[in-house]
Amino acid sequence: MENKVKIGLIGLGTVGSGVYKTLQNIDNAEIVKIAVHNKNKKRNIENLDENIITDNAYEVVNDPEIQIVAELIGGVEPAFDLIKTAIKNGKHIVTANKELLAKHGEELFDYAQKYNRVILYEAAIAGGIPLIMPIKTILAGNKINKIMAILNGTTNYILTKMDVLGSSYNDVLAEAQDLGYAETNPTGDVEGYDAAYKITTLATIAFNKKIKLENVYREGITKIRPQDMLSANEMGYKIKLIAMAEINKNGEADVRVHPMLIQKSQPLAHIDYVTNAVTLCGEPVGEITLSGPGAGEFPTASSVVGDILAIMSEIGKSDYILPMMRCNHSTNAKMIDISETENRYYISISANNNLGVIGHLGKACEENNISLASIVQKEIGKNHCAEITVITERCKEKNMQNVINILKNDSSILNVNSLIRVQR
Ligand code: HSE
Repeated sequence: MENKVKIGLIGLGTVGSGVYKTLQNIDNAEIVKIAVHNKNKKRNIENLDENIITDNAYEVVNDPEIQIVAELIGGVEPAFDLIKTAIKNGKHIVTANKELLAKHGEELFDYAQKYNRVILYEAAIAGGIPLIMPIKTILAGNKINKIMAILNGTTNYILTKMDVLGSSYNDVLAEAQDLGYAETNPTGDVEGYDAAYKITTLATIAFNKKIKLENVYREGITKIRPQDMLSANEMGYKIKLIAMAEINKNGEADVRVHPMLIQKSQPLAHIDYVTNAVTLCGEPVGEITLSGPGAGEFPTASSVVGDILAIMSEIGKSDYILPMMRCNHSTNAKMIDISETENRYYISISANNNLGVIGHLGKACEENNISLASIVQKEIGKNHCAEITVITERCKEKNMQNVINILKNDSSILNVNSLIRVQR
């Protein structure tokens, strides 16, 4: 009993419960205090000792006995202040808090360094998929230059259902909310914020340069139509919400989250429902794709407990534990603005059945140096309206935006339905 490492939990929701249950099987770990929001809430945990529960999280971070604090409440405050207080009080930190890391990671890691404490966060990105520790340890000899990832289960579930059923975004969202896969306020997931938090931290550690969240381009899935799913399928693609990060030879980084057409031959095209996946390209390793559960009680607990055990294994053995897992970069990445990036594009327009519509489209593309890779127009509908779908070759984003403006002001074009980037 005396030699057990003392652990404090902040949060006993889905993740906290999984961590509590998993740690019951670890002999040399003892949870001595747990902070919860509501002490009276009924919890599905056997033999939970009510005496260690508090509704004051500062009792956890100020407890002199506790050596490791696991912060599992999410959001910026009070988590930010609680973690800083815990570090100041000499505790090591394990967190699943993607938003806090993306917004205040730099300050937190500086603070941890100052007090010679570590912050581990395997659970913050892609839940149960081991990513942070592999990148920082066994892949440390690599120069990682590209990440393509599906980091949000909610949006991947919605896009998969739209694809399988041919249903609209709104119908699938409502069903996902009923089943508990999407939150009542789905903004954080469907507008890409959650994936943007995760790719900000992932790109920072993969490129070993600081990426600022405000420089990460973000676009969600709410405008994707079932017709886009169908057209993409016919052209050999699946539509996914992709978090991507790329760094060029000049050290300039392009980090973004947006829907993307992924070739069906690629592994990410086959990652369905709530599963997450990350493809890393590095030298010398080449391309690796890791996939698995990105959320949920036990997958996330697996990562939190792994981090706790990594710290426990070092406590008392060294004055400077886990050096490879610390924040080892100091420079900010130079960022490329989305307007300067080069992409391929899928465009869908609706037009009246007039002469020369495709000519107008072709002229706008030609004037902006954009070459068309494929073009599809099906039989004119009963409403005398044509839907024309195009995939372009690689071109500058700002040129593509010029074309969209031209098309929006062209009287023969009724609507620009969709503009979705295509995997390069
Ligand atoms: N809201 C997240 C998702 C949960 O849908 O993937 C894990 O961060």
